[in-house]
Amino acid sequence: MRAFCNLALATLLSSGLVFASPAATDTDTDRKVAALLAKMTLEEKAGQLTQYASPKEQLAREGRVGSFLNVVGADKVNALQKVAVEQSRLGVPLIFAYDVIHGYRTIFPIPLAEACSWDPDLAEQTAAVAAKEATAAGIRWTFAPMVDIARDSRWGRIAEGSGEDPFLGAAFARARVRGFQGASLKEPTSVVACAKHYAAYGAAEAGRDYNTVDISVKTLREVYLPPFKAAVDAGVGTLMSAFNDLNGTPASANRFTLTEVLRNEWGFRGFVVSDWRAIAELMVHGIAATPAQAAERALHAGVDMDMEGSIYLQNLPQLVREGKIPESALDEAVRRILRIKFALGLFEHPYADPDREKSALLANEHRQLAREAARKSIVLLKNDQNLLPLSKAVNSVAVIGPLADSRSDLLGCWPGQGHAEDVVSMLEGLKGKIGPEKIHFAKGCNIQGNDDSGFADAVKLAQESDVAIVVLGESAGMSGEAASRVFLGLPGVQEDLLKAVHATGKPIILVLMNGRPLTIPWAAQHVPAILETWQLGVEAGNAIADTLFGDCNPGGKLTTSFPRSVGQVPIYYGHKNTGRPPSDTDKYTSRYLDSSHTPLFPFGFGLSYSQFEYRNLKLSADKMRCDGSIKVSADVTNVSLREGDEIVQLYIRGLVASTTRPVKELKGFQRISLRPGQTRTVEFTLAAQDLGCYDENLKYVVEPGPFKVWVAPNSVSGLEAGFELVDK
Ligand code: GLC
Repeated sequence: MRAFCNLALATLLSSGLVFASPAATDTDTDRKVAALLAKMTLEEKAGQLTQYASPKEQLAREGRVGSFLNVVGADKVNALQKVAVEQSRLGVPLIFAYDVIHGYRTIFPIPLAEACSWDPDLAEQTAAVAAKEATAAGIRWTFAPMVDIARDSRWGRIAEGSGEDPFLGAAFARARVRGFQGASLKEPTSVVACAKHYAAYGAAEAGRDYNTVDISVKTLREVYLPPFKAAVDAGVGTLMSAFNDLNGTPASANRFTLTEVLRNEWGFRGFVVSDWRAIAELMVHGIAATPAQAAERALHAGVDMDMEGSIYLQNLPQLVREGKIPESALDEAVRRILRIKFALGLFEHPYADPDREKSALLANEHRQLAREAARKSIVLLKNDQNLLPLSKAVNSVAVIGPLADSRSDLLGCWPGQGHAEDVVSMLEGLKGKIGPEKIHFAKGCNIQGNDDSGFADAVKLAQESDVAIVVLGESAGMSGEAASRVFLGLPGVQEDLLKAVHATGKPIILVLMNGRPLTIPWAAQHVPAILETWQLGVEAGNAIADTLFGDCNPGGKLTTSFPRSVGQVPIYYGHKNTGRPPSDTDKYTSRYLDSSHTPLFPFGFGLSYSQFEYRNLKLSADKMRCDGSIKVSADVTNVSLREGDEIVQLYIRGLVASTTRPVKELKGFQRISLRPGQTRTVEFTLAAQDLGCYDENLKYVVEPGPFKVWVAPNSVSGLEAGFELVDK
């Protein structure tokens, strides 16, 4: 059903505006917006700045709401849209939003897992499928991609992002915006994306969600802002302002980030929605005494829409009447929102197509993509004596652990409209791979709690089997929002179960299912094979079985450092050198008495069933002008008998600068496939413009000086060379 929006169309036509082609230029759109804006009352304007999470038909009829979230399904959306479009005075269509974070009905790997593919094109494809399914259900705006850099795995929302590195995070931000928004927002399968949570939400003190963020502006600009800038450069239509206090001014009232940086520096023309009731929370933060003051602070800072707060609806008209807020400020926020509604084509096509919804959700090709994404997201952390892949001729396999037969946990922390019954569990995947008669299951224990009464059965089963696969980790609810943890080991008695099965002496493989880096030093030391599978979505079981039995050769690599202990957190590869770099031999250095300072598994690390050798690092020059570039290349050879993928990484280090710089910075990566014996010369271009940093005056500068460069398999090894950045 693709009905025109009669009332709004009539309104506009009566104002002498003739509808331009769908490819309307900004000027055309701005003219339409101006014509509509001129007809709106203060209440209708405040309505456009208001979003609710439950249907409010009367407000829609009165034109006093502009958007709904969590109203999904073509029929429900169309019913509410019909009220707004055909019964309100001006007929302005609503925009329906939903958290389509890693899939709508076909659920893909959680973003932290998908980032381990180091394949932004894949992320673009999964986002595009998510948009295709969501739009079939009437959703035209997703609250994704979450682009928060996270270096503290106590923070549960690390699961929703791309990890600790701004360069990699920027690449996935661009890809996901492209995937969600498509070639044009006018496409019926496009949703407008929302880069969140602006800004620096992942730097919450102590890893406690919603907690204070107090970081230098240099760190803000060099670490936390780049993925947002990348999203803006990719054309993202909206951003979401975060809950957290940011250097003393809450992110949802922070004019520096929301207007000076986002609009004045970056030229962003879309709109900003607050996070859930974040404007009202300005009173809790203590920077507003009344709802009216909260409304004034947020609008002045640059928040255009109030999510579920009623603060704008109930206060802005009066604030304008009292002269405390110029109507022009209100108009500018309305203008930004209407521009997006026009860009989406909502005035011409406000309704969803129920028939498309029936055919689009969980389409077979979507499942196939989910399986490919899951396979590429798996990280092989250990594989002593090449225990993996297992032979399909194995007679009996003990599958042990509380996550082995779980489905709902594999949907992750933002399951969208995913159904547990859609998920292929680990157990089902293994049975499908080698036959149910070979697979024997014992749960052993729960995810949490101290009940070890199931250990005996699990141990007995392992003793009677050829090999034991132990599936441990977190429930879906143990990561994501409001899910911070102070203990990062395996929850409950899971590690005790692992030790009990290990004591049988049988070959043992640990399969992890989790939403954050975990501290697993005992397993890392004693278990011969460890597979990090995160939460992989609807095709999890098949992808893991493919990998365990060699139909898939794992090629994923970590995008967050795994700590040995929570005491090391925050831990990340791009740390500063300090004046006393850590040394395990010299006491008076930046080290610990009771632990190595190094991560258990470093950023960029991941094994394969193949082996790769790096040789012949070359630079096109040993000097680079400050307006120039050099080429960096190395030969990568697959020295094994099995085809496999290798993620080749390019790092640099500025050795001397006007401010301190990280000991390594990722500046490039390529995931390549190599046949046995094949060598590929992998080439990168390093441009001087990408080698800058923020100086003491917070100006981005490209400074002459000595640099190191690595072409590497991860952040702790690789081929090293040097070059000099010189003045023009
Ligand atoms: C939540 C989250 C945000 C989400 C929004 C709507 O509180 O912080 O990521 O998009 O509310 O569900």
